[in-house]
Amino acid sequence: MQFSDVEGDLSEVLLTQEEIHEKIAVMARQIEIDYAGEKVLLVGVLRGAVMVMADLARELTLPIEMDWMAVSSYGAGTQSSGVVRILKDLDTDLEGRKVLIVEDIIDSGLTLSWLLGNLRSRGAESVEICTLLRKPDAAKVEVDVRYVGFDIPNAFVVGYGLDYAEKYRNLRGVAVLAPHVYE
Ligand code: PRP
Repeated sequence: MQFSDVEGDLSEVLLTQEEIHEKIAVMARQIEIDYAGEKVLLVGVLRGAVMVMADLARELTLPIEMDWMAVSSYGAGTQSSGVVRILKDLDTDLEGRKVLIVEDIIDSGLTLSWLLGNLRSRGAESVEICTLLRKPDAAKVEVDVRYVGFDIPNAFVVGYGLDYAEKYRNLRGVAVLAPHVYE
């Protein structure tokens, strides 16, 4: 889906498909340097991370494995509460593994902060985070993120995996959702 397919629902284009792919290539080159000679386990957090995972995994020249988790934050509305429930756990034993969590966005940081602690407690040799987007102005907890694509404003963004009510995940780029859509 292109921006023009849902033009009336968007107020501003933030990142085009080309800008995203260029950045993913830059992140992949750094990951290849940092994990040279290693087999990394990429852990994607459903559902938003599907697009980043698909593009990052194919860009990497390292041998990788992939696994997936689905988590849900307890609490009302669209805000993370920090109390996380596992809906789908990993199938992989993390003992001695080098784990790289792949995310679409870090908003409050509460989900990733919990996830880091959870995966580190499973005996992994290392657990790091790679996120395409981060909203510095929305942070409620500091999360140590090794790879960040773009810092973006604290606006309601959709596309490239990010949804509003399950829509717009298949938009090729990232855009700010127009307030009339959700108000
Ligand atoms: C998004 C995103 C992160 C989380 C970040 O997922 O993929 O997992 O929110 O928010 P936080 O930093 O405030 O904790 P969401 O809960 O929207 O689920 P989805 O990936 O299925 O869309």
